[in-house]
Amino acid sequence: MNEVTINSISYSIDELEKDCWIQLVNGAVKSSSSFHTPCVATLNNESLSIRTVVLRKAFPLLKELRFHTDIRSNKWIELQKNDSISALFYDASTRVQIRVKGRAILHFNDTITAEAWQKTTLSSRRCYLTEASPSSFSTIATSGLSAEIEQEKFTLAESEMGAKNFGIVSIQVKSMEWLWLNHAGHRRAFFDYENDCFRWMIP
Ligand SMILES: Cc1cc2nc3c(=O)[nH]c(=O)nc-3n(C[C@H](O)[C@H](O)[C@H](O)COP(=O)(O)O)c2cc1C
Repeated sequence: MNEVTINSISYSIDELEKDCWIQLVNGAVKSSSSFHTPCVATLNNESLSIRTVVLRKAFPLLKELRFHTDIRSNKWIELQKNDSISALFYDASTRVQIRVKGRAILHFNDTITAEAWQKTTLSSRRCYLTEASPSSFSTIATSGLSAEIEQEKFTLAESEMGAKNFGIVSIQVKSMEWLWLNHAGHRRAFFDYENDCFRWMIP
């Protein structure tokens, strides 16, 4: 069998790869999609770190994924030292897992961040307005924001302070792995973009 049939639709391995990217684009644009919030892993020397992020963009032709973050965060600092990155997506409704591996390009203070920053809502700008860096310890349980900022009592002009902390991580996907859990037999495929080679795998 050189195809996989899902909901009566047969996919060749090339069609499956295209469909994975359609699902990723959908994940980026729809907050209700399970692919909207992948887990992203980075390396801190020998130690692994993993966390949830919001998928903001997926570019099928460029094989690129993007998420936003605070440039003071651990993940940003880790990626500055080691650009190796992996992202994991799982949709429980379709029982599909997608795992990508790649290299991170960090965008800060460039046209990509400027354009994305313009589109961020006041509410999400709050994430970039803490005085203390993310992950710094506190003697009290706090968001790190003043009461005014917490309650969104600030102007658009005041929110611009956050731009200096706003960064975008672009994942240049080097390989992607698809796994479908199916009662009649699981299926798995590997898409190697470095060697331009798509192959089925034993799950
Ligand atoms: C649903 C959800 C979405 C999140 N989205 C982001 C995000 O897009 N960017 C981000 O930096 N942190 C996001 N976070 C917070 C991270 O998971 C993490 O706790 C924080 O960024 C600190 O990670 P770090 O210390 O590894 O840098 C999100 C958390 C949750 C639960």
